[in-house]
Amino acid sequence: MIELASSILSADFAHLADQVRSAAEGGAAVIHVDIMDGHFVPNLTIGPPVVNSLRKFTRLPLDCHLMIENPDEFIPAFAEAGADWISIHQEACRHLNRSLHLIRAHGLLAGVVINPATPVETLSEVLDIVDYVLVMSVNPGFGAQKFLPGSLRKLRRLAEIRAERGLNYRLEVDGGVALDTVADVVRAGAEILVAGNAVFGEGDPMTNAQRLLKAATEATLLKV
Ligand code: DX5
Ligand code: ZN
Repeated sequence: MIELASSILSADFAHLADQVRSAAEGGAAVIHVDIMDGHFVPNLTIGPPVVNSLRKFTRLPLDCHLMIENPDEFIPAFAEAGADWISIHQEACRHLNRSLHLIRAHGLLAGVVINPATPVETLSEVLDIVDYVLVMSVNPGFGAQKFLPGSLRKLRRLAEIRAERGLNYRLEVDGGVALDTVADVVRAGAEILVAGNAVFGEGDPMTNAQRLLKAATEATLLKV
């Protein structure tokens, strides 16, 4: 099943509720929340209070993408604020297994993320304890960057490994997903499509979400 996760990074924060509502009306099934600490990535965004506010007006899953160092320090606070899913970067974790178990211990879905320069093979020992794998298709830190096509091979490989090992994780892709790239990511196996600029950048989030989902569905039908 293909799901659109609209990334609020590109939303107008002064009208966040309206923007999220509009994306949801256009079919966005997940709200992707980019958490940046100014250390792991060269940008600062939001923390638990905003997640808590979002929790009060939407029932959609809140997909918290932690681009922070020492994520263990903040996982409890995001869980308390109302996160449903938490993903952490392989590159940011000294004890990845422990951190993933910490997310699960809070009753949340646990995801692991890899940057464009990180090989899929570095995840082999944790694939059986994650609910989803997030493949970055840009270097994290900013919205509206150019899609990096090397991510397609990684998605395909992760889908193969899942079949070979009989695992169940879902595949999420993040960065540069738009009308011109969505068919490729879907054909490569992505199931959760993060899109920020393509939804909130220009025009109406509802229409943008609808168009993106239509293009994704058409690509699935052509997949064979
Ligand atoms: C980048 C973030 C993304 C970002 C994607 O560091 O993780 O979620 O919002 O933005 P677009 O869809 O604009 O590339
Ligand atoms: Zn993200």
